[in-house]
Parts: sequence; C-alpha cells; structure tokens
Amino acid sequence: MAVNIDWNNLGFDYLKTNVNIRYSFHNGQWSDMVVTDDEYIHMHMSTMCLHYGIEAFEGLKAFRGVDGKVRLFRVDENAKRLKASAEKLCMTPLPEDMFINAVIECVKRNIDFVPPYESGASLYIRPVIFSSKVTLGVHPGPDTDFIVFCSPVGPYFKGGMQAIKVMVDRFQDRAAPRGTGDIKAGGNYASSLLSGEKAVSMGYSNVMYLDAVERNYIEECGAANFFGIKGNTYVTPKSPSILPSITNKSLRAIAEDMGMTVEQRPVPVSELKEFDEAGACGTAAVISPIGMIFDVDTKEVVEYKAAPGPVSLALYNKLRDIQYGRAEDKFGWNTVVE
Ligand code: PLP
Ligand code: COI
Repeated sequence: MAVNIDWNNLGFDYLKTNVNIRYSFHNGQWSDMVVTDDEYIHMHMSTMCLHYGIEAFEGLKAFRGVDGKVRLFRVDENAKRLKASAEKLCMTPLPEDMFINAVIECVKRNIDFVPPYESGASLYIRPVIFSSKVTLGVHPGPDTDFIVFCSPVGPYFKGGMQAIKVMVDRFQDRAAPRGTGDIKAGGNYASSLLSGEKAVSMGYSNVMYLDAVERNYIEECGAANFFGIKGNTYVTPKSPSILPSITNKSLRAIAEDMGMTVEQRPVPVSELKEFDEAGACGTAAVISPIGMIFDVDTKEVVEYKAAPGPVSLALYNKLRDIQYGRAEDKFGWNTVVE
C-alpha cells in the first residue's frame, strides 16, 4: 500500500497508521495479542491510570536502511526498561518476549509507514502500559493494559542536527532521588511541563534539570540525557533520578570503541564551561548538539563554539550508520523486521 506522506517534512507528531497492538491482563492472565485499527480506548471513569498516574511508556525507532531492510534498534533494552517501570509502579510487568513480539508485529503491520531511507526520518514506536483496575482508593491491582502504536517521525527538535539552546532553571524539579525519575512514568513528564513551557516561551528548546537535593548537579536535558565532551572523554551524569537512556548507553559503547574514556559520574553545573562540546541524547532527540546554555538564576551563559563539534558528529554518524545499516552491527543492536 502506498501511503501519501511528505516524508521529508515530518515533525514529531502522531500520524494514524494501519493498526495498533494490544494485550491486557485481566482475571489473572495476559490475553492473546489483539490487532486493531481502533485508535480509541473505552475506559471506565474510575480507572486507576486516570486518577493516580499508574502509567508508563517507552519510545523506540525502526529505520529503513540503505539496503531497504527495516531495522528496530535495541528493542530488548526497551522491553527491560518497561518491565522495570511497571514493577516500580505496582503494575503487572509485561514479559519481555511479549513486548518484543508486540513491537515487531506493530512494525510489520505498519511497514509502509517506515519512512524511505533517503528521507532520514524513522518510525517511532510508542508502547504504553497502564493500570486498568477500577476502584476508588489508592491501591494497585493486577489489571493492566498494554498498547503499542507507531507513527512516522522527523526530528524532535526543529532543525534536526542544528544546535539547540537550553536553560538551567531551578524553579521546578523533574524527579526526586527516591522517586520515579529512573523509570519512564508519565508523571515525570507531567511534573516538568510547567518549567518546560516557561523555557520554550523564553526561546529555549528545553530545560536542563538539576538534582532535586542540592540543585547543583546536572540531571536531564528535557526528555533526553546530557553528555559533555572534554578532550577525549565522554562525560555523562550519574544519578538515581535520571532515566537510563538507551541512546546514551549506546553512545558510551561507541565512544569506548572509538578509544575514548567514558565517565559516568555526578556532573556539577559549574563544569559546563569546561566542556568542548555538549549534547542532549535520546531516541527522539538522537543527538541534539547544545550551542548555548543560559542559567536563569545566575544569568551565566555558556556557549559552545562547535555545535555540533567533531566528536558529537563522529558519535552521531557511527550511531546512524548502525541504525541505517551502513555499518556492521558489531554490538548486535538491530532486529531486522521482515
Ligand atoms: N531522559 C528522558 C527523561 C527521556 O524521556 C528520554 C527518552 O526516552 C531519554 C532520557 C532518552 O532515553 P532513550 O535514549 O532510551 O530514548
Ligand atoms: C523518547 O526519546 O523516546 C522520548 O520518550 C521522548 C518523548 C517524551 C518525546
């Protein structure tokens, strides 16, 4: 089926595809896979996910490669992370193989929506899990629903690999050390919207969140992890309230493979000016080079002359080469969907 999409001008928005994939856990067991073209969910008004945010999601991509093959990137890692998210929010965790099968089925059934190789766009897959228990009190329950849908997407930040400006703002914490920052809970995004909107209204792409205890250490860069390059070293923050990014994990492996030193440790905001290059990384963001960071409280400005700098560019190209099948998949990250 030919689909009528302007592949070269895709944003990061929902576009309807053929079908979505569903599983539900009711009466003590997971259902069989359901394939549906229904975009809606019929839900009781007292369902727990609506009231208490008992919900988590994932994001991963499929790429049409230089050889025409469709490759899913590190689906097993997303399966593990969603399981961890469900467990922390007292939902019934989805078995990893069910997650992987659902994602593969979703890509297969929507294969015409995987953008052509030349467009540089990709198919974004959004698995979501939520409590479907109906009650009133704050109690978890085993009833859980899982849906996987997808949408073809272009760059998350307008301009793609162009430099972004970010703002350090202590006005709102994204997540607390013993909270839910390390899982992909919808609540983390809800609780960072206000400061995110403030940053956008001031002309910044997003907020650089600091740790919620001292407000001194870098946590996340909007919906992406942060990394800095200092000489031959890749530095990325370590904290219990950061989402363990699969892109960041991949970049660390690529950096090591390139002979770089990798440091994962607390990164004070004062260190920003010592980096040669800085970037935000994630599935949606890929690598978004940071050109400028403005601290709204201290009024300090840090500018990076090279954005993207040569190291960020080399990391970006190596990652993209694996995802688009231009380089050997030496780490075994891709799943070919046929
Ligand atoms: N941090 C946050 C808060 C995110 O929402 C994301 C997006 O998934 C990331 C980091 C990047 O994670 P990943 O590379 O696994 O997509
Ligand atoms: C992703 O990179 O997959 C994300 O989840 C970011 C998103 C919240 C748009």
